[in-house]
Amino acid sequence: MSNSSLMPVSESTSSSRPRVGGATVRKAKLPDAVNIFELVNSLSGDGTLLRRSYAEICENVRDFTVAESESGVFLGCGALHLYGPHLAEVRSIVVKPEAKGQGAGGRLLRALLIEAEEHGVTCVSLFTRIPDFFFHFGFRVVDRTALPDKIYKDCQTCPRLYACDEVAMARGPIPRIAVLGPSRFPQPELVKLQAGSIVPTPTK
Ligand SMILES: CC(C)(COP(=O)(O)OP(=O)(O)OC[C@H]1O[C@@H](n2cnc3c(N)ncnc32)[C@H](O)[C@@H]1OP(=O)(O)O)[C@@H](O)C(=O)NCCC(=O)NCCS
Repeated sequence: MSNSSLMPVSESTSSSRPRVGGATVRKAKLPDAVNIFELVNSLSGDGTLLRRSYAEICENVRDFTVAESESGVFLGCGALHLYGPHLAEVRSIVVKPEAKGQGAGGRLLRALLIEAEEHGVTCVSLFTRIPDFFFHFGFRVVDRTALPDKIYKDCQTCPRLYACDEVAMARGPIPRIAVLGPSRFPQPELVKLQAGSIVPTPTK
């Protein structure tokens, strides 16, 4: 057992009834970013998932795990964002519509929980509209104010801040610390260029 106080993934998650064949999961590589970008943003319009830019996905591609078929066809993805040893967050977990119900989502989530365990993270959190799926994997509903890091990272800039229909969930003890907070530093002013300070490029 790891030294984290999370219940080991293998002992706690889902009925995990065996499925014939199905998806395999692996850490994402940069060439997966296009597939991840298209699938995640196909579900961002109705608020199921947070919109993520292509640049953001490339920058954070090491957070992602992907599921693929035996022949290597991309089926879905999920990400584990690390705040610190006290907290991680499952983000952008999604399976293509045609691959749902065959175990890919569960395998992705289990892989992310094992990753959190390997990092010694004590609490894994997420915000969702489908808590029932996550109950299968040992998550419980918690008060969102117990997760200030998440609020500072995403909620404060979210257009749904005061009309959020997502449920906060956690697996493991709620952290007593947070590493994020309101910015203490005022936005630096942009350097003002003096008129005539730019030397025009000579034209012939
Ligand atoms: C949620 C999602 C990732 C599940 O993927 P999936 O591949 O269909 O899930 P699995 O087949 O691995 O199911 C694992 C278990 O969860 C259950 N389950 C799956 N979807 C569920 C749901 N929406 N509600 C409750 N239970 C669900 C399954 O019955 C299965 O239980 P079992 O092991 O007892 O048979 C997928 O439905 C999806 O992409 N949804 C849209 C995106 C989304 O809402 N993501 C969550 C954002 S927080």
